[in-house]
Amino acid sequence: MLNFAIQTARDAGRILADRMGRALQVSNKGDIDLVTEADLASEKLIIERIKSYYPRHGILAEESGATEGVATVTGQSDWRWIVDPLDGTTNYAHGYPCFCVSIGLERAGSMELGVIYDPIRDEVFAAERGQGATLNDRTIRVSEVDDLNASMLCTGFPYNVRERPNFARDFANFTMEAQAVRRDGSAALDLAYLACGRFDGFWEDGLNAWDVAAGVILIEEAGGRVSDFIGAPLSIYTPKVLASNGLIHDRMMQVLRTS
Ligand code: IPD
Ligand code: CA
Ligand code: CA
Repeated sequence: MLNFAIQTARDAGRILADRMGRALQVSNKGDIDLVTEADLASEKLIIERIKSYYPRHGILAEESGATEGVATVTGQSDWRWIVDPLDGTTNYAHGYPCFCVSIGLERAGSMELGVIYDPIRDEVFAAERGQGATLNDRTIRVSEVDDLNASMLCTGFPYNVRERPNFARDFANFTMEAQAVRRDGSAALDLAYLACGRFDGFWEDGLNAWDVAAGVILIEEAGGRVSDFIGAPLSIYTPKVLASNGLIHDRMMQVLRTS
């Protein structure tokens, strides 16, 4: 199934790269939340593939919502694909080359595999439970930075900023504590970068399951830690996500608490 997910993410990523820069039809989903034809075309390809290879599996995809798994002789299928067909839509719509395809597979509440594909850099991040994490087939590990002052962090600003006013305070506090803080606009790619040591820590309030599903297993398999803001094990269905190399996790929680 990992090879299936990698191939599917690559093919969907090619759709995104091919359409980039063309005059795109862009619609608004909310206040400042966009959807483009590319999101829809990528999602269509991914869903058709899953339905043809794994017709009994459930799917949760950002643009089309949830489809329940089909019952098997032993009961309801407990496999669920969790898909963000284009993470970083606002970047994409502006021609800013920081976006990806994210595909995760959950079984009975636990993430079993994840693939994040950046078609611009041709980088495939992949992980399977118990098998480690890779970037273009080479094993990756989280960083060894153990001092928040020396760390490079990343975060994202939620679309509904007005409902989550703490984001600006957290951003200010981390900026005072860390070596650097970045805001790249693609949560899935941020998590993949953490898994391979480019970032040491990440936090964001306001994420959805499709933003984090694949990234969570990548980070765990690369030796890092994911939790909510107070250190409880992460459910991908909760919006507050704290992820790190493990070594600066407690310090990051302290900063979030003082916010
Ligand atoms: C968004 C990106 C962004 C994050 C937002 C997400 P989308 O996903 O991951 O970095 O800050 O919270 O919704 O809409 O581009 O798929
Ligand atoms: Ca997303
Ligand atoms: Ca998306």
